[in-house]
Amino acid sequence: MDWGMKNRLSQLIQSDGRALFLPIDHGYFQGPTRKLEEPGKTIEPLLPYADAIMLTRGVLRSCVDPIKTKPIILRVSGGTSMARKEELSHEGITTSVREVIRLNASAVSLSIFVGSEHEHESLLNLSNLVNECEEYDIPVMAVTAVGAELEKREARYLALCCRIAAELGARVVKTYYCKEGFEKVVRGCPVPVVIAGGPKVESELDVFEFVHDGIQKGAIGVNLGRNIWQSDYPVAMIRAIRAIIHENATPKEAQELFSSIKKGKQ
Ligand code: 5RP
Repeated sequence: MDWGMKNRLSQLIQSDGRALFLPIDHGYFQGPTRKLEEPGKTIEPLLPYADAIMLTRGVLRSCVDPIKTKPIILRVSGGTSMARKEELSHEGITTSVREVIRLNASAVSLSIFVGSEHEHESLLNLSNLVNECEEYDIPVMAVTAVGAELEKREARYLALCCRIAAELGARVVKTYYCKEGFEKVVRGCPVPVVIAGGPKVESELDVFEFVHDGIQKGAIGVNLGRNIWQSDYPVAMIRAIRAIIHENATPKEAQELFSSIKKGKQ
């Protein structure tokens, strides 16, 4: 691996081989998502505990201090909105590689929509982006997206998406966790896998359990947004998840840490 690629990847994936990415890119198709109305304020207390943040160029420029930040994973796909849910898979590339370099991003990310009407287009978006980014040693993280079809998140489908993303040149793949067969998803993907969160789940313990299980089954970490910053205790949440990822905490230990931070004891 060339120096630039290695250097950028090591800004994202820490020396223990693990990673906690904090995505705040949701507005690119969802508009002002709950608790992300003012992204700069949302992430300020969370930044010390994130290894990287994932966002669009617009929010980066307008809401993030260039002096006090973390490595950037720049979302460069989009062009759709919740107003046309049936068209969510019809993304294009929104940001030039020249701009990626100007913004000093450590990586770029885009969504692929396997099995959707626009599968072919999204996979060529990935291939073309890899062609351009590899010239500058910029890693591409592929997001295996399902649009509004959340029921698609099962092992066979996710394994298909992850493998295709890696075959087309993604350096990291972000995919959903699934309870059954997640180890097969990771085993079939020759590049590191990070777990996406999806909509906020019932309890904190549910989050700690799926993150822990995903890591045990081979994921290197998470790209987790709403289950952190939509929590009433986002700092306690990110610190507890960080303990699972970087300190091998069990779900129970993460829950105890969460409770004690929530009560102001840490
Ligand atoms: C949107 C994204 C988000 O970054 C991703 O969904 C992760 O955030 P969350 O944990 O809130 O699902 O890629 O397409």
